[in-house]
Amino acid sequence: MNINGSVALVTGGNRGLGKAYVQALLDAGARKIYVGARHLPEVTDPRLQPLKLDITDARDIAAAVEKCQDINILINNAGVWYGSPLIGAASMDSARKEMETNYFGTLAMCRAFAPTLKQNGGGALVNMLSVVSWFTNPFGGSYSVSKAAEWAMTNGVRIELRAQGTLVVGVYAGYIDTDMAASINEPKVRPEDVAARTIEAIIAGDEEVLADQKYLQTSLAERSEPRLTPTGTPSIGRCSRSGTAGSRKHSNPTNHPLLMTLS
Ligand SMILES: NC(=O)c1ccc[n+]([C@@H]2O[C@H](COP(=O)([O-])OP(=O)(O)OC[C@H]3O[C@@H](n4cnc5c(N)ncnc54)[C@H](OP(=O)(O)O)[C@@H]3O)[C@@H](O)[C@H]2O)c1
Repeated sequence: MNINGSVALVTGGNRGLGKAYVQALLDAGARKIYVGARHLPEVTDPRLQPLKLDITDARDIAAAVEKCQDINILINNAGVWYGSPLIGAASMDSARKEMETNYFGTLAMCRAFAPTLKQNGGGALVNMLSVVSWFTNPFGGSYSVSKAAEWAMTNGVRIELRAQGTLVVGVYAGYIDTDMAASINEPKVRPEDVAARTIEAIIAGDEEVLADQKYLQTSLAERSEPRLTPTGTPSIGRCSRSGTAGSRKHSNPTNHPLLMTLS
C-alpha cells in the first residue's frame, strides 16, 4: 500500500510509540494524521489533527468515526500495562482495566472504523501487540492475557476484513523504550525502529511485524524458564509443564512459527 498521500489515525498518538508512529507516517508522506489522545495534544505541523479519543469511551469513538471519514490507515497503538500478576495482585482491577483498553477498546476501534476503511478502498489496520501475546510473563500476567486476547482478535479481524481488501497488521515487540517500560532494566528497542518496521510492512503488504527480531530470538531463547530479575520480580518466562527447561514440546520460543517463518 502506498502511504504517500494517505490519511491516518493513530490512537495514543500523543507520546511513546504512538508519537513515533505519527512521525513515521509523516516521514512516509501521509497527507493528514489524526492524533488520537485522551487529552487533546498540542500540534504544530499543519498535517496533524488533534483528536480527543479515549478508546474505552463509546461516545468518543462515535465522534471520531464522524470526524475521520477520510482515513485509510488506522493504527491501534493505545494500551495500558499495570505490572500486575494474576494471583498475587490485590484485586482484579488492573486485569479488568487492561482488558478494557487493550482488548475491548481496540476491538471497538476495529469495529467502528471497518466501514470507513472499506469505503476508502480497504486500507490498512494495525494492532500493536507484544511478544507477551504468545506467552505469559508472570511479572505482568494480566497484561499478557489482554495482549493474547488482542492477538486472537487481530487474527479474526484479519479474516473478516480480507473480503473488503483491508490489510490487518499485527506488530510484536519485546520491551520498547517508552514510559510504559521505564521501570524495566532490560534491553529495549527504540520506538522509532518499531514504527519504521511497521511502515515498511504496510508498504509491502505484510501481515505480521516482528519489530525487534534479533532481540526476540536471543532474549526469548535465554528465558525459556521464569527467572528472577535483580529486583526480585519475575521476568519474562515460559513455563514447561513439569518445570524442567525444554521438557515441553516447543518450549524454546525461537521455535515459535512466526520466528521460524520470518528468520
Ligand atoms: N513499551 C513496551 O515495552 C511495549 C512493548 C510491547 C508492546 N507495547 C504496546 O505498545 C503500545 C504503546 O505503548 P507505549 O510503550 O507507547 O506506552 P506508553 O508510553 O505508556 O503510552 C501509552 C499510550 O496509550 C494511551 N492510552 C492509554 N489508554 C488509553 C485509552 N483508553 N484511550 C486512548 N489512549 C490511551 C496513552 O495515553 P495517555 O497519555 O493519556 O496516558 C499513551 O498515549 C501499547 O499498546 C503497548 O501495550 C509496549
